Amino acid sequence: MKINANNINVIVNNHKILTDITFELNTNDVVALVGSNGSGKSTLINVLANTIKFDGELLMDGKDIRTKNRANYRKVISVSFQNPDLQLFEKTVIKEVEQSLIINGTNKKEANKEALVLLKRFKFQKLANINPYSLSAGEKRILLIIIAISRKPELLLFDEITSNLDNKSTVMVTNFLKKIKDIIIVFSTHDFRMAKLLSNKVMIIESGEIKTFDDTKKIRRRNE
Ligand SMILES: Nc1ncnc2c1ncn2[C@@H]1O[C@H](COP(=O)(O)OP(=O)(O)OP(=O)(O)O)[C@@H](O)[C@H]1O
Ligand SMILES: [Mg+2]
Repeated sequence: MKINANNINVIVNNHKILTDITFELNTNDVVALVGSNGSGKSTLINVLANTIKFDGELLMDGKDIRTKNRANYRKVISVSFQNPDLQLFEKTVIKEVEQSLIINGTNKKEANKEALVLLKRFKFQKLANINPYSLSAGEKRILLIIIAISRKPELLLFDEITSNLDNKSTVMVTNFLKKIKDIIIVFSTHDFRMAKLLSNKVMIIESGEIKTFDDTKKIRRRNE
């Protein structure tokens, strides 16, 4: 899959939040979106998720996602970690994952099996039968990632991927996400270490403009 953002502008209340954002993403790109508070990271993620109004073009494989291709763009999953409670609905952790699989077309029997496999991969099986609201902040985040992945998206968007995760969870999440292939991942973070560990491209955004968009390796070399 190829995503093209062409001259994206976002203006809210006469306030320019994103200015002339243009870039291309291809399958297997894992992009770390970094920038200071208020630079426009969440806004850009919302644009990619097609959940806010913007000027310019957002193309999926050359077709505008807001017209012809809207239905296909469902394979885009956006996870905001700023308020995980808004994305959890079921009585138990495993039901939460099963429900997501069922919505995605898996039958009930299979959903239970698949959900268990996913939970085990994250060493989450012990938490299978507890209420998602009793999870710690970090565990909730991991659960949201499991749910997002269960839907087999082509474009996965994470806002503030590591906030509230300790070192161990960060490594666990990183290792898990690294194994997923044939997908585009865009994640925002304030954690440069996480950015380096997980991404193969880094996008630096400043006051609503892209300052740098380059291979992580090249950016590392430049900073060393
Ligand atoms: N509805 C709105 N009305 C006016 N200004 C807004 C609105 N939404 C966002 N902004 C402004 O747009 C700018 C970018 O916000 P955004 O949330 O995208 O930044 P961010 O990079 O995600 O910041 P953070 O790191 O704090 O999460 C901020 O200055 C914010 O105040
Ligand atoms: Mg933000």
